[in-house]
Amino acid sequence: MALRKLFGLFLLASCFPQTVALTELQSLCVGTDRTYFGTSCYVLDTVPLTYSRAKVACEDYLGYKGHLYHIRNEAIKNITHQLFMAAGSAGGWPSFEQYNASGARNASWGLAERDGTVTPVTYVPWGYGPSGWEPVGPATHTRAGYVCPWGGLNDAPGEGYSYEFICEYKESNKHPVTNLEKACATLSRYHTYANKKCYVMHAELKAYSAAKVACTDVPNYNGHLVHPRSNEQLNILDNFMLAASAGNEIYIGVEQTNLAAADSKTTGWYYTTTNKSSEQATFLPWTPTEPDGGTGSNNVIYLFGSRSFSDVPATGTRAFVCVYDDIVSNDITYSLKIVNLAPQLYAFDQIAQISQASLAKCTRECRINQACASFAYSSSTSTCQVLASSYSDGNFSLAASFVIYTRQSP
Ligand SMILES: *[C@@H]1O[C@H](CO)[C@@H](O)[C@H](O)[C@H]1NC(C)=O
Ligand SMILES: *[C@@H]1O[C@H](CO)[C@@H](O)[C@H](O)[C@H]1NC(C)=O
Ligand SMILES: *[C@@H]1O[C@H](CO)[C@@H](O)[C@H](O)[C@H]1NC(C)=O
Ligand SMILES: *[C@@H]1O[C@H](CO)[C@@H](O)[C@H](O)[C@H]1NC(C)=O
Ligand SMILES: *[C@@H]1O[C@H](CO)[C@@H](O)[C@H](O)[C@H]1NC(C)=O
Repeated sequence: MALRKLFGLFLLASCFPQTVALTELQSLCVGTDRTYFGTSCYVLDTVPLTYSRAKVACEDYLGYKGHLYHIRNEAIKNITHQLFMAAGSAGGWPSFEQYNASGARNASWGLAERDGTVTPVTYVPWGYGPSGWEPVGPATHTRAGYVCPWGGLNDAPGEGYSYEFICEYKESNKHPVTNLEKACATLSRYHTYANKKCYVMHAELKAYSAAKVACTDVPNYNGHLVHPRSNEQLNILDNFMLAASAGNEIYIGVEQTNLAAADSKTTGWYYTTTNKSSEQATFLPWTPTEPDGGTGSNNVIYLFGSRSFSDVPATGTRAFVCVYDDIVSNDITYSLKIVNLAPQLYAFDQIAQISQASLAKCTRECRINQACASFAYSSSTSTCQVLASSYSDGNFSLAASFVIYTRQSP
């Protein structure tokens, strides 16, 4: 939102002759709602939003990664204070989040970004309010608003208040804009483009089988239910669920494909896509008593409150999150390695096996999978194996018909 406004001003600003050489970001950062300081453009949005909604609103656009602003030192605090004051605003949301609320109120604060990361910091400029020095709120106050009259931060519940906010775009966060990023930015659902993926919140309730085929937000991109693989990705889900008031649970793209299998905490769970590529799920933060649903519960939900997984039957209707991967082109090359003539098929660190695949599809599956170090392809059976080890790691032994390709650059 904020940088779309930047674009309009860029056209306006460029009508006037420039006497100084400006960076592209500086030339985009002209107007009463924004200020350029250090190497960042700070853009004030005066439409008050809850913290979670403000966080997704600072989206990447026009090639600069955006996030709620980081108050990293007193100079930044001062300059953004002036930005609020000049607009007649009493303050708003920076990116502070308390990542562990069980200790002291003033401990464990960090600067958050839309990709779910929270970087611990020591500079947390608390304000002086009517009750003295902040923070004085209860443990549920895990966010902090900047209050101009107090000259600093006030701990607050992120969803309890709607505040104005400042988005920050940094020179060093410039990146090439992809088609997926552009398409992602136009979506009306809550969305976040981070680390070459577009995450989209679906707050409407669907049964698992319907949710699984509903990831069609972005034309020409194959979407799938989210495959959470890290705590940072859980942070993205948490923020979406808050923003969309989506309740306590969502379906994720993890399921037990063998419907008769016994419950296991570690094996038998797969990252699902609409077309059955079968990668084993490895990040499985189960609730301590889960999975406990037996053979009737083969689908996985993410529980917001406990940040954990639980197995459920497919029939219940729930909200869900879809993910679209950027199609990486030309930045990875493959070299043909070797044909091993061993008669037996041994899968070596296999991540996924895909049948009826073309060589091009097999190549692409490896490209979009960070964990892929190589792949084996059989043109006689059209079988593709995505592998986590490369041939150079040693001791591949695949059936005669397979040819192994090794990733050459990341
Ligand atoms: C910030 O503003 C305060 C109050 O105006 C001033 O005393 C201080 O020197 C300023 N600090 C910086 C680093 O600009
Ligand atoms: C959170 O803080 C408490 C109190 O300082 C500490 O005991 C606990 O280990 C912390 N939890 C995490 C996950 O860091
Ligand atoms: C937190 O507050 C306590 C007590 O007011 C103080 O002793 C401590 O230095 C503060 N810690 C931080 C990180 O500001
Ligand atoms: C299958 O799904 C994956 C992951 O979403 C996608 O990359 C691939 O292109 C899909 N294949 C087909 C044939 O739709
Ligand atoms: C490959 O085989 C050799 C000899 O059998 C063995 O010493 C080595 O550890 C194996 N390497 C791997 C990566 O399995």
